[in-house]
Amino acid sequence: MTSSTNQFLKPVSTLINEKGNLEIGGCDLVDLAEKYGTPLYVIDEKTLRSICRDYKKAFEKYPNTHMMYASKALCTSAVSRILDEEGFGFDTVSGGEIYTVYKSGVDMSHVLFNGSNKSYDELSLAMDLGVGRISADNFFELALLNEIAQSKGKVADILLRITPGIECHTHEYIQTGHLDSKFGFDLTQIDEAIELIQNEYKNLKLHGLHAHIGSQIFETSIYPDEIEIIAGEISRIEKKFGLKLNEINIGGGLGVKYTQKDAPPSTYEIAELIINKLNEVVEKYNIEAPTVFLEPGRSIISTSGVTLYTVGSSKQVPHGTKYVAIDGGMADNPRPSMYQAEYAAEVANKKDTNETQKVTIAGRFCESGDILIKDIELPELNEGDILCVYNTGAYNYSMASNYNRVQKPAMVLVNDSNSDIIIKRETLDDLIAHDIIPDRLKK
Ligand code: LLP
Repeated sequence: MTSSTNQFLKPVSTLINEKGNLEIGGCDLVDLAEKYGTPLYVIDEKTLRSICRDYKKAFEKYPNTHMMYASKALCTSAVSRILDEEGFGFDTVSGGEIYTVYKSGVDMSHVLFNGSNKSYDELSLAMDLGVGRISADNFFELALLNEIAQSKGKVADILLRITPGIECHTHEYIQTGHLDSKFGFDLTQIDEAIELIQNEYKNLKLHGLHAHIGSQIFETSIYPDEIEIIAGEISRIEKKFGLKLNEINIGGGLGVKYTQKDAPPSTYEIAELIINKLNEVVEKYNIEAPTVFLEPGRSIISTSGVTLYTVGSSKQVPHGTKYVAIDGGMADNPRPSMYQAEYAAEVANKKDTNETQKVTIAGRFCESGDILIKDIELPELNEGDILCVYNTGAYNYSMASNYNRVQKPAMVLVNDSNSDIIIKRETLDDLIAHDIIPDRLKK
């Protein structure tokens, strides 16, 4: 079957140029590091557009599919513009994400708002800006949303987020669809929610059901399993309440290839299973063919991103590990310390040796757990070498912090030998911009 871009370890435009340096998007990575400094997030536009097209093409046979990029993976104005151009909508989870896509010119009817504890202000903003769908997560939120909609004289278009009771094999912290989960309505709570919507919450209009099983998923069977459960519920609801729901949101979750060990399925593989299952349940339950929403995040943006670091000090523990320190780490990529995530990396500058040694790439932050990559074979690394870590597009910048009061890195978008800054590097003044010294403490 055709492969898709989420199955690649490196951006599609990666090559070694005539200088012997790594190049992405026609830009020499050593030149980028010199021009913009390190750590530096680099996003390859070709890779990003290529995975968007893989998704679109894979679902061509089910025209009623809407692709909603889960912007929690990486939410920036320029990335939002590209996704919008590629015909994607957005799955947002905060007022900040809603505001970012709104300011980047996205048609807000193509946006949905998810989350297990959305605030009054966020829900209000979502309604004011005309967000297309709000996925209601719990009873508290149904009441709150109805109140907000009523106060504005509007009707909120909603989905119900449900917990289908499916476990996937991924890190425990990124599973969401199992029964004892903080997200969504338990299947046994759906009827009560519908009764409330039908009888009390006159300012809510329910369109369908939403679920999300987990993230970095390699098992293809979870999608058909999920559709079976959602479709079964839709048919049951129609019979019991006479309510026809014609929207199904099956969440995101498709995995990517962080290291050679990972073998994620392709968009084409999951699309075929999803479409076959949809056709099957439409017939089996005699329901209207639903409009389907998908919310991929990681698989859209991860592969297009790499992070460049400059090598600093090294330490050989006698008879032990060789640590090589870089100028970033857990503040710009918290995934290894949070989820034991593994990454692949290469040296970006000319290395005219085939000899490698096993080293551990240590971050610069003041914590023993700040290890970016444990035991990786690389050519001998010296101070000033540029390390390129692959697959850092998703959940790196979006989870970055200012731990140790270190400035967040810049991000550049590369394509056809052009590089454009899309996020400025923070300055020392940015770090203190929100600090206030009360008058009584002033010098
Ligand atoms: N939809 C919902 C409701 C979600 O909760 C998520 C991710 C997605 C879509 C997108 O899932 P994706 O396609 O990216 O797998 N920080 C973790 C990942 C947390 C994912 C949370 N929810 C990590 O770095 O692995």
